[in-house]
Amino acid sequence: MDAIEVIRAKRDHHELTDAQIDWVIDAYTRGEVADEQMSALAMAILLNGMNRREIAAWTQAMIRSGERMDWSALDRPTADKHSTGGVGDKITLPLAPLVAACGAFVPQLSGRGLGHTGGTLDKLESIPGWRASLSNDEMLDVLRTAGAVVCAAGSGLAPADKKLYALRDVTGTVESIPLIASSIMSKKIAEGTGALVLDVKVGSGAFMKTTETARELAETMVALGTDAGVRTVALLTAMDRPLGRAVGNALEVEESVEVLAGGGPADVVELTVRLAREMLEAAGVSGKDPAKALQDGSAMDAWRRMIAAQGGDPDALLPRAAETMTVEAPESGVLTRLDAYAVGLAAWRLGAGRARKEDPVSPGAGVMLHAKPGDLVRAGQPLLTLHADETARFARAIEALDGAYAVGPASRPQLPLVIDRITA
Ligand code: URA
Repeated sequence: MDAIEVIRAKRDHHELTDAQIDWVIDAYTRGEVADEQMSALAMAILLNGMNRREIAAWTQAMIRSGERMDWSALDRPTADKHSTGGVGDKITLPLAPLVAACGAFVPQLSGRGLGHTGGTLDKLESIPGWRASLSNDEMLDVLRTAGAVVCAAGSGLAPADKKLYALRDVTGTVESIPLIASSIMSKKIAEGTGALVLDVKVGSGAFMKTTETARELAETMVALGTDAGVRTVALLTAMDRPLGRAVGNALEVEESVEVLAGGGPADVVELTVRLAREMLEAAGVSGKDPAKALQDGSAMDAWRRMIAAQGGDPDALLPRAAETMTVEAPESGVLTRLDAYAVGLAAWRLGAGRARKEDPVSPGAGVMLHAKPGDLVRAGQPLLTLHADETARFARAIEALDGAYAVGPASRPQLPLVIDRITA
């Protein structure tokens, strides 16, 4: 086989055979297929698509490029959640220990943020001492101690995806549903979880801007998980406005701890409890109600064990940015709009995110929201507080927020927090 034959086949709208897919993924991982050939193939796939069989074969080939984790030594079912990413999406932080407190093990491999959406590892790394890199044996130890572990994926997991995702990032080929679905699911299936709940975000702050494209991505991923023997469910959830009130690494850890202490913003609590119920149901674990576990301290206990088992100090003071600036409501009325993408971009410009993979993030930087769409505001009251290490960052963040919020006489309809549920 050769790469040109495979590229031509997809360019000319033919289905790729399983043998062609297996060969091209393996040869690309070994360096036999060149980056320029793989980028031509990725572009042909972006333009001409792949059917369900091709996507399944592509996903399985990427899984086979590396190791597959195995949790059969554990005596309880495993469940995980994956979010396609959004602004203020800190749900993994309260969710993983909450599900552990309710009786399932949560082995979660997470990523760092790129662009306007934050990364779970960046958030947790704002806790002094906390370590993202664990060996497989350390992961098992943390799971046995705390019931949940959140850490970085090792280089052995789906190496074909690692190489291909970096290539797609620089060749305009990220936005392909078959490639996104196979990329996410190859890692989640290789991670070895028995049950998986996908939180597919919809709106300006998300990858998928419309419910239709989000639904197509969710259906594709649910089919891939189910075909691979993972009990998989997806929720489509709103990302037209930020989730919760905190956007930024340490700010989001603080808000997560409030949720684990039985408080926190209503939307974060609602989504955390809903996802926990979905994970427990998919894992076949019943008995404890997640809403109660947030109130009785058991989820908080699991959080403290999880953080300490990864070297973190759950009682340590979190980093704070040196400077703050307040944005005030321009008039009195109802906040009708607070755009998720603009707030994410502002937080990124304040230092909470990175432009390149190797850039550092500022743990204290970000945006705190004092009102959410639908809330009454008075002219001059604080709407947002910007946090940054240097005052020089405020001007570009304010530019990002230009036109991002509106105050009007009456509230406007917004997407429901949970838009739909997708099953196989
Ligand atoms: N996240 C991934 O892991 N892969 C994609 O292709 C897009 C988002």
